[in-house]
Amino acid sequence: METLKGIVLAGGTGSRLFPLTKVTNKHLLPVGREPMIYHPIHKMTEAGIAEILVVTGTEHMGDVVNLLGSGREFGCRFTYKVQDEAGGIAQALALAENFAAGSRLLVILGDNIFEDDLSEYTRAYMAKPGGAMIILKEVSDPERFGVAELSGDRVTGIEEKPTQPKSPYAVTGVYYYDNRVFEIIRTLKPSARGEYEITDVNNAYIQRSQLFAKFFHGWWTDAGTFESLDRASQLVQSREAGS
Ligand code: DAU
Repeated sequence: METLKGIVLAGGTGSRLFPLTKVTNKHLLPVGREPMIYHPIHKMTEAGIAEILVVTGTEHMGDVVNLLGSGREFGCRFTYKVQDEAGGIAQALALAENFAAGSRLLVILGDNIFEDDLSEYTRAYMAKPGGAMIILKEVSDPERFGVAELSGDRVTGIEEKPTQPKSPYAVTGVYYYDNRVFEIIRTLKPSARGEYEITDVNNAYIQRSQLFAKFFHGWWTDAGTFESLDRASQLVQSREAGS
């Protein structure tokens, strides 16, 4: 059976959470009873992924390795890669090419916290011959995210943080890619904000008619601002209290 490897992207500057991120990495901050980064990792192991690459910046790599270790405690194996500067999500993903070694990938942004088990989405993606798959969620503030334009159940385009969103459907930070993602990233140019954008990667798959989309059933949030970090903690705590 074809394997799926995991990538957790935990670089970036965390500037929107300053001064909480002055001496630590955003993904080490607490969400509920655990560090933020535990959440995407648990989602990967729950979906049966055994090989996980963690990408983070130079400043806090030591703390990240101290926290996560080899993966033994999580039932997986970790590999680590350093992103020298926060040049964007697609730039961080490019560092995974050797690790991927031809496998398909599940990429989760380290500040994404959500309810659903990914097993069902993973099976749906692996049943496809290749291409990419994204997961969408209806939100009240789409202008903060990548926003999908839909025609029926087909995504016809994605806009990064549009001032006038064409839909309420945010592109969550949970992405499935085949190995062609690395060819695509090599063709990208930095955006107006100076970053290699994951939205450009997804639009390239749309142009090839190889982007599939699903919707999350349960709740989803990012945790990169004070407001969303609070919300993430509340959602996780209510789940902890309920289970
Ligand atoms: O949360 C979903 C959103 O994430 C998507 O809707 C957007 O399309 C996507 O661009 C992204 O938007 P943000 O502006 O919220 O991304 P942010 O810069 O906060 O980065 C999110 C995570 O990605 C961060 O927690 C760690 C990782 N990252 C980010 C950058 C810029 C890296 O690993 N390296 C980086 O250079």
